Amino acid sequence: MQSTSIKSLLNNKPLQQEVTVNGWVRTFRSNRFIALNDGSTLNNVQCVVNFEDFEEGLLKQIHTGAALKVRGTLVESQGRGQEVEIIVGNIEVLGTADPETYPIQPKKHSLEFLREKAHLRVRTNTFSAIMRVRSALAFAIHQYFRNNGFFYFHAPIITGSDAEGAGEMFKVTTLDMKHPPLTEDGEVDHKADFFGKETNLTVSGQLEAEAYAMALGKVYTFGPTFRAENSNTTRHLAEFWMIEPEMAFYDLDANMDLAEDFIKEVIGYVLEHCQEDLAFLEKRLIEEEKAKPQAERSPMPLLEKLKFVTQNNFKRVTYTEAMDILKNSKPNKKKKFQFPITDWGMDLQSEHERYLVEKHFKCPVILFDYPAKIKAFYMRLNEDGKTVRAMDILFPGIGEIVGGSQREERLDVLKQKMEALEIDEKELWWYLDLRKFGTAAHSGFGLGFERLVLFATGMGNIRDVIPFPRTPQNAEF
Ligand code: 4AD
Ligand code: MG
Repeated sequence: MQSTSIKSLLNNKPLQQEVTVNGWVRTFRSNRFIALNDGSTLNNVQCVVNFEDFEEGLLKQIHTGAALKVRGTLVESQGRGQEVEIIVGNIEVLGTADPETYPIQPKKHSLEFLREKAHLRVRTNTFSAIMRVRSALAFAIHQYFRNNGFFYFHAPIITGSDAEGAGEMFKVTTLDMKHPPLTEDGEVDHKADFFGKETNLTVSGQLEAEAYAMALGKVYTFGPTFRAENSNTTRHLAEFWMIEPEMAFYDLDANMDLAEDFIKEVIGYVLEHCQEDLAFLEKRLIEEEKAKPQAERSPMPLLEKLKFVTQNNFKRVTYTEAMDILKNSKPNKKKKFQFPITDWGMDLQSEHERYLVEKHFKCPVILFDYPAKIKAFYMRLNEDGKTVRAMDILFPGIGEIVGGSQREERLDVLKQKMEALEIDEKELWWYLDLRKFGTAAHSGFGLGFERLVLFATGMGNIRDVIPFPRTPQNAEF
């Protein structure tokens, strides 16, 4: 007999019928009630065992974590807490789990403890809910772009260019680390390396996406991205997933409109399709927040916060306006910021971004027209000669979730900017070609997927929203 997923069983409720389910034991109470979960849904199905019908030896193998195949009749539940249950006719123990050594027991485990058991943590309600929401968000993202005329474009993972100019990249090499070939000057000779040049893992697929946007019109990437920055924060990963749409003929306003509409749609999708998981995560969060001081608690429960984002316009503010607000803000005047607001042109820290979003505007904020000096070389210079058409989207509890811009499409201006930043034209000859042949206004942005998942699930640490996090000193699993 074919097995059914627990999700479809609980949805369809084929009462009085014989059903077969596979899953893992969450709890086994009173030698009688097995709560079985197969990952298809947050909910377990209750399997009722009449212990007289089974060998003791068999029941003794049933512990939290064991894998079972259960056959029985689905009936309306006698007890409370579930609508239906399976009166078990047959149990096959597919795999046992020793209660002495199986780490995921039916009690509260800390997130820190579970991080060290990343291969098993998805067997908890919290992590299975997060990962189902993550999957749904990924689907919603592809669907959004597909419905809006975008093509999915695969940027290379190994690159020879540093898109962000940040220089914090992971090297890719097949050279012998102990005895690398050297040039006459004693430098490592990358001509002898696999690609005949220095290569790295990509920090962004944007530059390549620009080439594709200038032919296909609207494209997006959605792939792994690598940054070797040594930031041990709750918002940074060394390997994360980024979504980067790039659109020909879009200016910054159109770019901001798209980014806002896109985020609202995908959040709306999970609100509609992940109700149980989100309700569970909201409850979990409320419990967790009880332990926090009032001031640190989120002003809105999770679902309300998500709805708020889908229903309200993001506030659009220039960098210059934001600086004025920050300069005159209470924390700045009372010297509460770790980095006081000083001169126009300084980079904003996350404490400033969070003040703007959480205290001042109390909604998502799009900051735009940043000083050229603190942004990447490819952003379009404004008439004032000192700001660029950059935009960052800032979210409550997260800070920066999106970074994007209108691109510099004028060959001469771009060349000047590269020269000023000492970026070798030879390295980016193909990128300059895009400005020589059929150049046109174009724009795009990058959304950090894990930061979106953080927001959607209400989790506080980015390590908890990606299956196997990669952070400094941590690449187990
Ligand atoms: O602001 P960033 O660096 O922008 C770019 O890479 C542009 N090339 C994007 C574009 O215009 N196509 O990164 C974009 C987003 C950030 O806003 C943040 O959400 C996320 O990527 N991000 C990270 N997420 C997790 N861990 C990290 N180390 C991240 N660095 C950036
Ligand atoms: Mg950024």
